[in-house]
Amino acid sequence: MSQENEVRKGLAGVVADYTAVSKVVPETNSLTYRGYPVQELAKNCTFEDVAYLLWEGELPTPEQIEQRNIEGKALRELDPDLIKLIDVLPTTCHPMDVLRTVVSYLGTKDPEFFTTSEEHIQRIGLHLLAQLPTAVAYDIRRRKGLPFIEPCDKRSFVENFLYMVFGDEPDSPANNPEDIKAFEQSLILYAEHSFNASTFTSRVVTSTRSDAYSAITAAIGALKGPLHGGANEFVMHTMLEIDDPAKAADWVNNALDNKDLIMGFGHRVYKKGDSRVPTMEAAFKELASRKNGQKWVEMYDIMAKTMDERTGIKPNLDFPSGPAYYLLGFDVEFFTPLFVLARVTGWTAHIIEQYKNNSLIRPLSAYNGVPQRSIEELVSK
Ligand code: COA
Repeated sequence: MSQENEVRKGLAGVVADYTAVSKVVPETNSLTYRGYPVQELAKNCTFEDVAYLLWEGELPTPEQIEQRNIEGKALRELDPDLIKLIDVLPTTCHPMDVLRTVVSYLGTKDPEFFTTSEEHIQRIGLHLLAQLPTAVAYDIRRRKGLPFIEPCDKRSFVENFLYMVFGDEPDSPANNPEDIKAFEQSLILYAEHSFNASTFTSRVVTSTRSDAYSAITAAIGALKGPLHGGANEFVMHTMLEIDDPAKAADWVNNALDNKDLIMGFGHRVYKKGDSRVPTMEAAFKELASRKNGQKWVEMYDIMAKTMDERTGIKPNLDFPSGPAYYLLGFDVEFFTPLFVLARVTGWTAHIIEQYKNNSLIRPLSAYNGVPQRSIEELVSK
């Protein structure tokens, strides 16, 4: 076989390693975390339970989760130097750049330069899981000139985050059990997805025996791109641009005629539909029914139908989560940082797994540049 025939662009179809964290079966539209279907986890568990499951391999007992939550809540406050650092970052930069900088900064405060043990990586995961929501909430509010709301250790992960973003008014999502449930479900669905681009990035960095902060900083960079996590923002930009459901079919047809990508559709692995979409679509439609969002539901349905009829390409998770986050009241440029708050759990689980059974990730390339030549021959001419 020639070198050229061996090239698998984008590593499509390449099985790069084993993982016991999650399993995607595109043929049956199935996704399991540590053996549990993600739909069942979204229906029955808290986000904290799912983080525990991903890291420990088993769901927690009530005593275990109580202890874990006490530890996590104690880590929510940001150090004043980190607040100063966020303050000097331009409010015009993308919020993913702030988050990437925050993780990088937190890495500089860790006296263990290189991550050495599962216990240490777990501590980093717990620390980031506690700190990143506070940093995101701080950034959301500073951009609007609103005062910072300190984290509250009486509230769960989701309740506390919504409280830090939206406050404690009676109409705040932090005080609405259905809003809390919808957001919690989105985080559970976003938490893990095998060797996606950002997770693979974190594994590549870990495979050099670098530290977990470096791996997660790199993963945030990968997630930012619109072909990956950034798509949830672009879905909403598209919907806001279309604005009127009556124009949605023409918009999709026109984009397809121009060979443009339509964000929120398609997937490298799922070709018959994304296993996470039905749960998130139901959450989005429930939010819309309570928040006067029928326009977005109509647009969503028309776009999905038009796309399916013309191309057979199905929506991915970002398609319902984009308008769901909009209805919850989040600013569009913060949708991908919300994804980070969830996926940091999956990244951490993969970093632990990679480190435990490591082999440097270093594929080959097929050279297609100019043939070998010589400077000496050039000089002698
Ligand atoms: N809009 C329009 N056309 C799309 C499309 C989309 N969202 N997704 C795939 N296609 C087209 C491709 O352009 C390609 O067309 P071609 O055969 O004429 O070149 C064809 O469908 C096959 O695509 P495929 O090779 O199976 O896609 P991929 O595995 O390389 O890419 C994605 C997967 C996710 C990168 C791609 O679907 C995409 O860019 N989607 C939009 C971004 C997005 O929502 N990302 C979040 C993913 S969870």
